[in-house]
Amino acid sequence: MRIIVTKNYEEMSRKAANLIAAQVMMKPDSVLGLATGSSPIGAYKLLVEGYKKGDLDFSDITSINLDEYVGLPADHNQSYAYFMRENLFNHVNIKMENVFLPNGMESDETKECERYDEVIRSHGPIDLQLLGLGENGHIGFNEPDSFFADGTHKVSLTESTINANSRLFNSIDEVPTFAYSMGVGSIMRAKQILLIASGKKKADALCKALFGPVTPEVPASALQFHHDVTIIADEAAYALIAKR
Ligand code: F6R
Repeated sequence: MRIIVTKNYEEMSRKAANLIAAQVMMKPDSVLGLATGSSPIGAYKLLVEGYKKGDLDFSDITSINLDEYVGLPADHNQSYAYFMRENLFNHVNIKMENVFLPNGMESDETKECERYDEVIRSHGPIDLQLLGLGENGHIGFNEPDSFFADGTHKVSLTESTINANSRLFNSIDEVPTFAYSMGVGSIMRAKQILLIASGKKKADALCKALFGPVTPEVPASALQFHHDVTIIADEAAYALIAKR
């Protein structure tokens, strides 16, 4: 596991964007596992700049996102499909037929989970999986649990996640309570993993994930068993580890 500590969010984003850009340049038909949330926004912005400058070509890239809220259509401004279009897909030359997210509007949970696992199987393995980190140690929407989920599953979001995500909705009552998420098993089958974490709210989860026991109570702790993980954390997120 490589750990890179940066001064702040901007430097974390720049270093993460550089790693993703290198992947896109070195293997133009890469399969990228992508995340939403505040953590990757800065990196996506820099990837868009790289594309606009002519340094990056996404025309053969496939992307497979980690998760989607259940009950939000792809055109809802808080859906992860919308987020990805706004922050990346609409601004680069990725082909929309090569872009995959769970369908939050599919009410048949078994059907949707099987469909998404088949997407991952048929297009994978994922070359580079980008991850943010939940304040409770979640990756994707794999919430603390008594076991590590292998494949795509429907998750009941925890109070901590609903509270953390309510900042993006008009009121907490509008935050969906369920999501479809890629499993920890699918994440672990990615060839390389890049986890980014910024801010003191992530410090406890990061410390437990990297140096605590490997337990499904801290889903990100599974990463300790992956052979190619890079962590880019800013000083605030790294603070508790630095103090150990
Ligand atoms: C989003 C996702 C989540 C977020 C995590 C951190 O696709 O999979 O695991 O990465 O909740 O969110 P932010 O970056 O908003 O702090």
